[in-house]
Amino acid sequence: MKEDQQAKLSRITGNARVISVTCLQWGDTGKGKIVDLLMASWADINARGTGGANAGHTVSINSKDYILHIIPSGILHDKEGKINAIGRGVAFDPYILNEELGILNKEGLSYNNLMISGNAKLVIPPQIALDRVHEAWSGKGKIGTTGKGIGPAYEDHAGRRGLVVNDLLNIDILAEKLKKNIREKLRILKSYDSELVSGIMEDRHLGKGRYYRPDEIFNADAIIEDYRRYGEQFRGMIHDVENFLRGQLGKKKILLEGAQGHLLSVDEGGAPHTTSSDCTVPGLVKGVGLRERDVDISFGVVKFPYMTRVGSGPMPTEIGGEKSGEWCNRDGAGREKEKEAFPETDINSPDEFIQGIALRQAGNEYGATTGRPRRVGWLDLPLLRYALQSAGAKIILTKADVLNNAREINICAEHEYQGPDYFYCGKILRAGTRLKIAIPGSEFLRFCRPVYEKFPGWETDISGISEFDGLPEKLKSLVRFVEKSANAEVAAVSTGKDREDTIFI
Ligand code: IMO
Ligand code: MG
Repeated sequence: MKEDQQAKLSRITGNARVISVTCLQWGDTGKGKIVDLLMASWADINARGTGGANAGHTVSINSKDYILHIIPSGILHDKEGKINAIGRGVAFDPYILNEELGILNKEGLSYNNLMISGNAKLVIPPQIALDRVHEAWSGKGKIGTTGKGIGPAYEDHAGRRGLVVNDLLNIDILAEKLKKNIREKLRILKSYDSELVSGIMEDRHLGKGRYYRPDEIFNADAIIEDYRRYGEQFRGMIHDVENFLRGQLGKKKILLEGAQGHLLSVDEGGAPHTTSSDCTVPGLVKGVGLRERDVDISFGVVKFPYMTRVGSGPMPTEIGGEKSGEWCNRDGAGREKEKEAFPETDINSPDEFIQGIALRQAGNEYGATTGRPRRVGWLDLPLLRYALQSAGAKIILTKADVLNNAREINICAEHEYQGPDYFYCGKILRAGTRLKIAIPGSEFLRFCRPVYEKFPGWETDISGISEFDGLPEKLKSLVRFVEKSANAEVAAVSTGKDREDTIFI
């Protein structure tokens, strides 16, 4: 990082011992890049505490992209002796770790200081199968999960039938817990169409059919054998991460890497279209065994001045509206198919559907985990204000460069509710009600229409600009507008994929 930027970052971080990085929207805001940057310039340790392989964190070094799902995004700094840890709040899938370690090996990247909490939740094949079967069966009512077993893994944890990473090395306990878990899953899975279930069990992630038995659905012995091998493979990495981190407080600089986003939190997000862990700062802190008061600075990452959402659930500012949402969520949708269908697009098209596709292509907004097209919409301030209420974070704005060519920018300043009378915490909200702070629950949010403020685009390439003052006036005034109307402090603006493309203010 350039010297003056490093100096600005040092001024912001001060004497901080712990810094968290979470997303204040629906995920995919560029947490991976920010974590990598802070590992390069500030932290000694990076720890994840929420989510699992549903996350897709992209780190870009010298224009080469590394996509990580379970390994923390600071891993590229392992060679400098920096530690990356997976905390107890993570839904840990050993199959995914094995795959990712394979990629690191191939790339010649080290992972000598990777730690996994023995208390992390262990994802098992029956959870993955149940997640997929349930989604396939739900048709139009599906959540649009990533199919990584995340919901059932956290449900099993709360339902007191979950497994933990330590079980990988206590194989008798693992076998007993797994068999019990399978017995319970069978009661549910046997009520689904058996062809649907057997088809899902053919997937690579589920042993390509090796984990399947027609009578019992799951071949417990095959799963136990693979998990025993994972245990041996990861033995040296499994530690008491939570106690380790507590012991490092004040000695080493600790970075906490969030997954997903505030609006997807099972506690604070828009039910039912959320993930199943609490991806806010309190959830993250708990997931690594620290206390909220240990966090000195929270950075909230916000895509700007657009945002994205993957999967189902209302998105008031969606460009191209419902048509666009359906297009993105149709079966088999992906980057290549979209490019084939729409080789020429225009970010300034009067047809919003086309404009949305152009924006998606410009921002490469295709899921890092599932490859699905991400739905795109304008920045929604009521949702941001909602997230900031409890997050109280300093904001990092990312991906502004994607809109370099846009002639006009819309920012949603308020929501207007247009649904039936809705009882909300002691009041009745009627059609026509305007809200500055969103109510995120899907049954309410789906009736909210955006009230936009329009701004002229900056229509300038911002790549390579390294000072806030050097940014186009129109972009700077947009940043100031967001600060003022969301009552937040913007700490940085990211102008591109690489670590260097970040301007601290
Ligand atoms: P990162 O960390 C964006 C979404 C899914 C779905 C919902 C539930 O890359 O920002 P799940 O598989 O968790 O049960 O799916 O949550 N989702 C994400 N969306 N970014 C993510 O992670 C996400 N992880 C889950 O698309 O709508
Ligand atoms: Mg992602």
